[in-house]
Amino acid sequence: MAEKKFYLTTPIFYPNAKLHMGHAYTTTLSDILVRYHRLVGEHTYFLTGSDENTQKMVDAARKAGKEPLEFLDEIVGQFSSLFKELEISYDQFIRTTDQKKHWPGATLLWQKLVESGDIYKKEYEGLYCVGHEAFVTEKDLVDGKCPDHGTVPELIQEQNYFFRLSKYTDAIKEKIESDELRIVPESRKNETLAFVGSGLEDISFSRPRKADWPQGLGVPVPGDDGQVMYVWCDVLANYITALGYGSDEQLYKEFWPADVHVIGKDILRFHAAIWPAMLLSAGVPLPKALLVHGFITSGGKKMSKTLGNVIDPQELLAEYGSDAVRMFLARHISPFEDGDITREAFKDAYNADLANGLGNLVARIMQLAQTHLEKGTRPEVAPFAKEYTDALENFEINKAADVIWERIKLLDQQITDTQPFKVIKNNPEEGKKLILALTQELYLIARMLNPFMPETNAKIKQAIIDNKKPENLFARKD
Ligand code: MSP
Repeated sequence: MAEKKFYLTTPIFYPNAKLHMGHAYTTTLSDILVRYHRLVGEHTYFLTGSDENTQKMVDAARKAGKEPLEFLDEIVGQFSSLFKELEISYDQFIRTTDQKKHWPGATLLWQKLVESGDIYKKEYEGLYCVGHEAFVTEKDLVDGKCPDHGTVPELIQEQNYFFRLSKYTDAIKEKIESDELRIVPESRKNETLAFVGSGLEDISFSRPRKADWPQGLGVPVPGDDGQVMYVWCDVLANYITALGYGSDEQLYKEFWPADVHVIGKDILRFHAAIWPAMLLSAGVPLPKALLVHGFITSGGKKMSKTLGNVIDPQELLAEYGSDAVRMFLARHISPFEDGDITREAFKDAYNADLANGLGNLVARIMQLAQTHLEKGTRPEVAPFAKEYTDALENFEINKAADVIWERIKLLDQQITDTQPFKVIKNNPEEGKKLILALTQELYLIARMLNPFMPETNAKIKQAIIDNKKPENLFARKD
């Protein structure tokens, strides 16, 4: 039987500023899922990247006194260092300014939409919010300003190409209702059905090329160099262009359709309506699922410089290391709801879960093993429990982490209950058996930790193989 494949994508990030905790969250969730599928032997492909052809990037570059393309390289360099520190095991980082990789596929996709009769030109007037990189309506504004960005949108009047999104209302509804395109969690599926059900309107798919945009920014509309593809049509295409759609299609053939697009709740509509409609129009199969996560706040509030509650992932990484950050995000935030992080909550979780929990357990067991077992007593590899695999198959990442911690607690209890350190004095054979059973379960726990805490997983397994207590797995933070 052919190996099962698993293709996962993250959203592609706006490179107008450093990545924050919310971005680290999306990417960590994604990485955990991919590592799990890799661990169970599937052939995985993991895509991330940056969404570069945008006005807000040009504005940010100019504000920083830099040339946009040079500014982009710098910020994208910072993205890769954060991902490296977070142990993100992506296969490819796609950039939408990549004329070799991204543009041919974006162009081909546009041509397919034209062939289906779904692109037409129209005079358009609307309010454009640069923060959203989208047109907004009067209804969306509070005191004439965008409530999310606090800015007054620009009134824009121009000739645009439009995409016949309205034509796909029923087809999309059907795909979502039947779970052919699964939207997880259910509440987001219902939300999507409600807005699709109220009817989709055609949308602007291009913008006139701005005179002050540098060369190399913005995919030209085929046959009309005066227009560039509007961001959402350009960026959504990344999920297939990265696989070589429209150029070298080997990866595309192997991995498309995506098994899951991981996204935040703010970009659900783009992924649940525009993207499937584009694919239907182009005759490309739809992705299988959207995992829609919530937003991370700090102390119940949106992180902001003014409130002083911003938690920089890099600061936490420097103090606690990647495994601790990954585990907090995985276990203490539900992927299906909004979640909260504060420095205090992080420290408490670190001490309870890692220093006193897992770290202490490993030290207790490995102290016994080192003293009483011979080196080379290899543990048997037991299969994963169904509740663990089911949780991860269903994107219930926090639940899978809880399953591990439940076993950590039970194993701790097992030491207390069976008292191998006493048994071994009177009955060495029996005592050794008990200790071996403990290391065996510890080995399985380490394997279960693999997707969440890759470094710790390796350290515990190595300790068992070397029959040696590891040095300070997690030091208590006071
Ligand atoms: N470029 C678009 C996505 C295009 S995908 C084809 C974009 N970029 S973004 O950089 O603004 O956001 C990237 C992701 O981070 C989005 O999924 C967004 O939901 C997520 N988050 C941004 N802030 C967040 C939090 N505070 N918490 C959790 N996720 C958040 O949107």
